[in-house]
Amino acid sequence: MRRSQGKVALVTGATGGIGMAVVRRLMDDGAKVFLVDLDEQALRAQSEALGDETGWAVADVSDEAGMARAVEAATARFGRIDMGLLNAGIEGKIAPLGELAVADFDRVMAVNVRGVFLGLSLLMPLMRRQGGGAIVITSSVAGIRGSAGLAAYVASKHAAVGLMKSAALEGARHNIRVNTVNPAPVDTRMIRALEAGIRPDDPDAIRAKLVAGIPMGRYGKPEEVAEMIAFLASDAAGYCTGGIYTVDGGYTTGTGR
Ligand SMILES: NC(=O)c1ccc[n+]([C@@H]2O[C@H](COP(=O)([O-])OP(=O)(O)OC[C@H]3O[C@@H](n4cnc5c(N)ncnc54)[C@H](O)[C@@H]3O)[C@@H](O)[C@H]2O)c1
Repeated sequence: MRRSQGKVALVTGATGGIGMAVVRRLMDDGAKVFLVDLDEQALRAQSEALGDETGWAVADVSDEAGMARAVEAATARFGRIDMGLLNAGIEGKIAPLGELAVADFDRVMAVNVRGVFLGLSLLMPLMRRQGGGAIVITSSVAGIRGSAGLAAYVASKHAAVGLMKSAALEGARHNIRVNTVNPAPVDTRMIRALEAGIRPDDPDAIRAKLVAGIPMGRYGKPEEVAEMIAFLASDAAGYCTGGIYTVDGGYTTGTGR
């Protein structure tokens, strides 16, 4: 039997680089997967390509009513939610403090923090009623270390770790496990946007600089992050809760090779 055979997963940011790899990995593990993201066309196309064991809903994770509708739609489709993958996120604008607009700060916090808060607030009571579950939040190495020019993103990813710790403590006696996965740069739209945001004239130079700071000397692949997320969401990770799981090529250990 496959590792997560018959389990039901809800994945936010499901049509993005890491989200799509998570969806595929969970389906390989035997799970039914409900996709949540912003773009109806992308959701419909990806769900159709993946087959009958999927469902989808358009929702902005920062919108309380929208997320509530998405969770309701997932339970209506599959009857329960065993795994919550709170993965949607935005990088926001790159600017030093003093130049970062309040509205830009607020938007990053709304998606990356309120979005996770809403996901936890909806899933924890549901999982309590079901007798348990597992939630994995996609934080970042920016949830562990700072990064110049990315104060909002860094603050939001640290906040995601804080939400995870409280949720893990609240969930422990109810058989609900909650963890974060903290990747270093991963080869998706987001890192390319950051490269271009830092240096529009020469994004490759930024890529080279970032890669030079990673002991393994490369970006991660979405599948490598998905592997950790799918493990933590599965019963194979039965004793893992309240943890910060780096997938970072050694980045948070130090610098240099
Ligand atoms: N790529 C990296 O280098 C990297 C590194 C560390 C952590 N992360 C985190 O991984 C997660 C996934 O990012 P990715 O690299 O796949 O980027 P991505 O841009 O490919 O995917 C992000 C997805 O989230 C969706 N999304 C954005 N705002 C949303 C909202 N308000 N409501 C619903 N969906 C929304 C987007 O539509 C997109 O599909 C993010 O939380 C990101 O912060 C990424």
